[in-house]
Amino acid sequence: MLSPENNRMLTQVGPGTPMGELLRRYWMPIGGASELDEKPIKPVRLLGEDLVLYKDIGGHFGLIDRHCPHRRADLSFGFVEERGIRCNYHGWLMDEAGRCIEQPYDDTVNPHSRAKERCGTKAYPVKACAGLLFTYMGPQPAPELPVWEPFTWENGFREIVLSDVPCNWLQCQENSCDPVHFEWMHDNWSQRLAGKTGPYASKHLKLKFEEFEYGFIYKRVRENSDEHNPYWTVGRVALWPNGFYLGNHFEWRVPVDNENTLSVAWFFMRVPKGREPYVQEKVPAWISPTKDENGRWITSHVINQDIIAWVGQGRVADRTRENLGPGDLGIVMIRKQLFNDLDAVAQGRDPKAVIRNSNVAKCVELPFYQKREMREGIALADFTNYPLLNARLKAFRHCYGQPPQVRRAFEQAMGI
Ligand code: FES
Ligand SMILES: [Fe+2]
Repeated sequence: MLSPENNRMLTQVGPGTPMGELLRRYWMPIGGASELDEKPIKPVRLLGEDLVLYKDIGGHFGLIDRHCPHRRADLSFGFVEERGIRCNYHGWLMDEAGRCIEQPYDDTVNPHSRAKERCGTKAYPVKACAGLLFTYMGPQPAPELPVWEPFTWENGFREIVLSDVPCNWLQCQENSCDPVHFEWMHDNWSQRLAGKTGPYASKHLKLKFEEFEYGFIYKRVRENSDEHNPYWTVGRVALWPNGFYLGNHFEWRVPVDNENTLSVAWFFMRVPKGREPYVQEKVPAWISPTKDENGRWITSHVINQDIIAWVGQGRVADRTRENLGPGDLGIVMIRKQLFNDLDAVAQGRDPKAVIRNSNVAKCVELPFYQKREMREGIALADFTNYPLLNARLKAFRHCYGQPPQVRRAFEQAMGI
């Protein structure tokens, strides 16, 4: 349970708020690079700021204030040039550093004026990695962009799935350190949704939560399993501060504003042994709908189910009215660490998991029990020994609405 002040403290993300300042210390994934190939300009809202993300004809990515520095027109209706994005109102041209590089009429009548130098706009750096685009909205110098080890795996099919989630980021992230919900929300509820009444899935018997350099690890023992199971020996990772790492996929809960979150998920599937080399030309990025045609939440897929839990807690979960139990220890640890990090930022120190060493950042290892399989591959005939991977071959169960062309490209890559 939190006091109203502490709940506000952890959930307000706008510029100048303590949590907003803390979250701005990290590179945030904001979409897929391939999204901008069809439409080079995308309006985005991040941490309470309205921005435009674009890729110019020269291939530079930019993220700048959505409103033109001239008279505030909406740059999401602008157009890109060889370098930069041009406003559709009077043609001012801005580059990815936020510099105003052309003011067409002014340049004609006053070619030697240096007025442009005063007309820069807000801009944040954008980096592409593993098909994702990341931005950093905090003070300089920016830390390194962590290249998580799975981003370096080769011979794999990657895809990126985005969903708009109408609630605060923290209740989504708290779900990253919440093992018991798998039993109920995904296993048992899915049974009920399928019209079956049982038997219920194996119960959680024992949990352990540990802190490590890049987040928290939770470990579980369920009925019909024991302490030799990788879910206990290796566990799973709540990635600091707003990610979830499940081995061959990541999920991030990116704060849009106090009441909205962008869910960004990145998936990797190694092609079967013998199908190498596989080089993916472009990492597809698609939007997973959260509601059906009747306006009801979609219940059929894993992340859709999670979203129902998150939005069900309210736009901003009222943590003054909760009753935490032993299964919620990971959530308590996350909140405590966030308060420690708020202190660190207030004192001018780096918060947890900020990486400044480029040698460390170029490949950051995370715990996972099937790394060898991801690096070396599994023969197609052996997939039956890997129930989760085998299920993944058959269907994409994480998010609703995978476009058929993405499924076809996946099948081609896998040779199925
Ligand atoms: S408002 Fe953008 S150029 Fe005038
Ligand atoms: Fe879940």
